[in-house]
Amino acid sequence: MSVGEVTNADAALPPLRVGLLGLGTVGGGVVNVLTRNAEDIARRSGRRIDVVHASARNLGAPRICPLNGILLTTNPMDVVENPNVDVIIEVMGGMTPASMLIRRALELGKPVITANKALIAHEGNELFALAQAKGTVVAFEAAVAGGIPIIKAIREGLAGNRIEWLAGIINGTGNFILTAMRDEGRSFNDVLAEAQKLGYAEADPTFDVEGIDAAHKLSILAAIAFGMPLKFDSVYTEGISALKTEDVRYARELGYQIKHLGFARRHENGVEMRVHPTLIPERRLLANVDGVKNAVLVWGDAVGPTLYYGAGAGADPTASAVVADLVDVARTLTADPNHRVPHLAVVPDQVSDLPILSMDDIQTGYYLRLTVLDQPGVLANIARTLADFGINIEAMIQKEASDETLHLPIVLLTHPMREAIMNDAIESLQALDEVCAPIVRLRVESLVS
Ligand code: NDP
Ligand code: HSE
Repeated sequence: MSVGEVTNADAALPPLRVGLLGLGTVGGGVVNVLTRNAEDIARRSGRRIDVVHASARNLGAPRICPLNGILLTTNPMDVVENPNVDVIIEVMGGMTPASMLIRRALELGKPVITANKALIAHEGNELFALAQAKGTVVAFEAAVAGGIPIIKAIREGLAGNRIEWLAGIINGTGNFILTAMRDEGRSFNDVLAEAQKLGYAEADPTFDVEGIDAAHKLSILAAIAFGMPLKFDSVYTEGISALKTEDVRYARELGYQIKHLGFARRHENGVEMRVHPTLIPERRLLANVDGVKNAVLVWGDAVGPTLYYGAGAGADPTASAVVADLVDVARTLTADPNHRVPHLAVVPDQVSDLPILSMDDIQTGYYLRLTVLDQPGVLANIARTLADFGINIEAMIQKEASDETLHLPIVLLTHPMREAIMNDAIESLQALDEVCAPIVRLRVESLVS
């Protein structure tokens, strides 16, 4: 047999018949990728993969993919219960009716592939248990970081490591907005509208800009990295909608980029999980991840730092992850369920319920912007207040007063400090007579160890 020749492997096994719930950005991308790369995919799976039945709300709506040969319905349950469908792909989004449909598919013993991070973050623990009980799987590579195979990398490629921490830009829409605001000076709402048009944003885009989507993804990554249950409710979350362009500018003057970062670290006494705008030194690779691109930095004790980069959203990149799951399912369909890669990387009875640290207990560097009256002694008062709390100033810039109010901005970077102490220090700074507007506080991560 010559290289590139299609084997008759696909003839040996009947085609894998896919039921597709959703024909929007991701669903359309899945049909396109399966159509375009059918030959390679069949060679990798050992059989052909055909979408045979699909659902959408409006069957008359224009689609980005061909639909020939696919039975269409507005009732997704018909797809799930179709006896001629072997595997279900859920790319509808939302909790209802997606949850009920996935549960029904698992009850029927059908493997489910989903891109729905909200559903996995909220209900993954139950869904995995149900899949396990029914001898089947829920695959969710596309739920985190779009096309980047980060779940496979952590769950399989890094299986020999104790993972200490991970940090990621894991929302494409947010990074697209921050990059365009910084580089093109465009308004937040204008760039968000473009991200929606390109199919990057969630149905409710506040999930993107308020960090909820990134928190969904971080809870999934942390569960897999640390072998613990999904704990979305414990992720500290701050969005980017309140970020000011002057802070982006001052951060750059200090040698930093501001990114919307998800961060999870394992400590002796628990795990920290947080999503917030973060200053990253501009020489770090993560600081240079722009546009809709995502990247995840994972620190394993054996391998050290590893970085995974690629498109974080969009039809084809997300379809790449969905179809990879589909190929995995095709390869393992007949394997003993107990010998498949476990959902959360460790075998189910080894998942351990680690405590989650409160934000008071995390330790990080800080960026503070104070708006102060232009009068003698103000700098000394600020420095003394910080010193009283044992906080070291690492860098400082002071700007000229920009109007007749004689208010001027002072920007400080501090060495790492416990958040509880920094909160008290900010309260004391805010009480100084010279401080005349709410203090802006952002966190800083050096991302070195
Ligand atoms: P879209 O809104 O583009 O597509 C959703 C599809 O589901 C549409 O075809 C819609 O029908 C159908 N649908 C929605 N609700 C129902 C319902 N109640 N009954 C029947 N059909 C329904 O979403 P995306 O493709 O962007 O996202 C899908 C999922 O993938 C979400 O969970 C999202 O978070 C996730 N995801 C998205 C990424 C992206 O880049 N867009 C990347 C990674 C994950 P109709 O078209 O007729 O309205
Ligand atoms: N809305 C999400 C994002 C889609 O922009 O990252 C990919 O998960």
